[in-house]
Amino acid sequence: MILGRQLVAALSLAAVAATMGRAQAANSPHCGAPGKPPCPLQRWMRREVAAPYAKRHDAALAKHLAELVRVNPEPSRWHHWDLFAREGAADAREHRDPVLSCVRCHDVYRAKYNAKYRERSLAFRQGS
Ligand code: HEC
Repeated sequence: MILGRQLVAALSLAAVAATMGRAQAANSPHCGAPGKPPCPLQRWMRREVAAPYAKRHDAALAKHLAELVRVNPEPSRWHHWDLFAREGAADAREHRDPVLSCVRCHDVYRAKYNAKYRERSLAFRQGS
């Protein structure tokens, strides 16, 4: 029984610690908040995607949207991420407006990405 209690106590302490860690991360972000620099993907999106999109630089936009596949943090689970990135890239390559791909990916993944991965530096996986 004592063992059981200790286990429960240890587990709840761990849960409290995890919650505090999360709260702390949410309360003092290192990026993306007023007075902080933009977060890595946020900065990349602005420079490499939104800027060529605004200027209708379709070739650069297509290249960068295609590169987004290699940024997918959960490639074995976030299948639509790759689909949206590839659709957007194909649209830009063929001089169609890729905006639906932007909106779809943001709707489905932006909040999830920001909850788990926002502060991590951008890593482009090799080979896809
Ligand atoms: C495959 C997914 C995906 C696609 C496609 C995509 N985005 Fe994003 N975008 C994201 C994610 C995830 C973020 C959140 C990054 C952050 O805030 O740290 C983001 C953030 C942004 C931001 C930053 C907004 C801010 O807070 O300053 C801009 C601008 C942006 N995207 C523009 C675009 C445009 C324009 C397109 C289409 C031409 C596009 N994105 C396509 C996933 C995508």
